[in-house]
Amino acid sequence: MAPLPILKWPDPRLSTVCDPVAPGEDLAGLIADMFQTMYAAPGRGLAAPQVGVLKRLFVMDCTWKEGEGSPLALINPRLLERSDTIETGEEGCLSIPGITTAIDRPDWVVVAWTGPDGAQHARRFEGFEARCAQHEMDHLDGIVTLQHLDGAARAEAEARYAAARA
Ligand code: NI
Repeated sequence: MAPLPILKWPDPRLSTVCDPVAPGEDLAGLIADMFQTMYAAPGRGLAAPQVGVLKRLFVMDCTWKEGEGSPLALINPRLLERSDTIETGEEGCLSIPGITTAIDRPDWVVVAWTGPDGAQHARRFEGFEARCAQHEMDHLDGIVTLQHLDGAARAEAEARYAAARA
């Protein structure tokens, strides 16, 4: 196991729609590396394309920084349902380091996925977990936070990112 390099925006791999994971594909080593990379970063979510693997999986653990971990690895996640109510929240991204951006998202979602052991799961996520899951699922479709912003807000965020990278 080793922490993996995290791709930084605008690496074109972050704009790629990822391929589904094939049934039975052994991802144990990759998932272990992704958790290690996420915790070392430190972050609460990491999608495979962020480490250059263009497949539909991500890891998240929204509570480890507060002491008790809740690690999840979601393979081929699918959005089943989402709230009509929208919340605005600040989001960071390990691939866009140095800035956060205010993003509107449904405040809860129901997601189905395959676990690392092949078991099928479905769960409703709320609060920060819902935001994190949607952010990571966006990565699997080649979408980053900046693309949720309109012209002026995006230009302002891009300028802050350029300054943070300088
Ligand atoms: Ni991200």
